[in-house]
Amino acid sequence: MTKTSRTALVTGGNRGIGRAIVEGLAREGFVVYLGARSWAQGATAAAGLAGDVRPVQLDVTSQDDIAAAVTRVEHDFGHLDVLVNNAGVNVGNRRPLDRLPKPTEETAEDMRFVYEVNVFAVVTLINAFLPLIRAAEAGRIVNVTSKRGSLGEEGAWVGQPSLSYSSSKTALNAVTAHFARELADTSIKINGAAPGHVATEFNNFRGTRTPEQGAAVAIRLATLGSDGPTGQVYEDDVRLAW
Ligand SMILES: NC(=O)c1ccc[n+]([C@@H]2O[C@H](COP(=O)([O-])OP(=O)(O)OC[C@H]3O[C@@H](n4cnc5c(N)ncnc54)[C@H](OP(=O)(O)O)[C@@H]3O)[C@@H](O)[C@H]2O)c1
Repeated sequence: MTKTSRTALVTGGNRGIGRAIVEGLAREGFVVYLGARSWAQGATAAAGLAGDVRPVQLDVTSQDDIAAAVTRVEHDFGHLDVLVNNAGVNVGNRRPLDRLPKPTEETAEDMRFVYEVNVFAVVTLINAFLPLIRAAEAGRIVNVTSKRGSLGEEGAWVGQPSLSYSSSKTALNAVTAHFARELADTSIKINGAAPGHVATEFNNFRGTRTPEQGAAVAIRLATLGSDGPTGQVYEDDVRLAW
């Protein structure tokens, strides 16, 4: 492989929206590292996709997995063009729920669990991969967020309360803005992609959009031109208020 290969890494790439983002970026010609915390599931997903898709063991809460992934990409290419932080959880991934809990029914432990994946891991991943992203011609970072994280208009205060989840995405949007400000004088752009209500395991397939429809905004932001925005959050082409 040459230094000119375009490379991408997608976390939580084994299913749902992440898998569709991997598929779309591979179709765009990227060499895509499909991050999965289960090696077997990652390998199975990668084998089912067209293009140069490479499974990588990546539990985003594991420092060892992150370090190994950085070493691998560095060894293979020496740069990373696109990092998509897609892996995400809600309280239902921690304990069985028959309905969404009210804020008074959630705990600080619930929040820690959700924030570990949705917020803290994203910060760790960005910082770990930043030297490789800086080594790319025009790095792009996409954080998969949710309209539920927007405080301004429709969002956290409409419909689902979901304290842990919604506030984690609000925090993620702030993380996006902070990195964008620091990186403003570089060629790197970092934005948030809100996929809409997508039918995945995340919501017991109650969503109304396909994973491919949900993935489209992340793929667009991953392939932005040099005149594109940074530090923003989009659902499709619509910029969301915070
Ligand atoms: N579906 C929607 O309507 C919707 C709406 C707004 C935003 N989103 C966001 O979209 C993203 C993807 O959601 P989805 O709907 O595709 O959900 P999903 O089908 O439940 O997939 C979640 C992915 O995250 C991975 N993951 C969870 N914890 C992880 C960890 N510690 N390390 C690595 N990977 C981990 C899962 O891996 P395993 O297979 O190993 O569990 C899975 O690949 C999330 O950030 C979610 O918040 C979804």
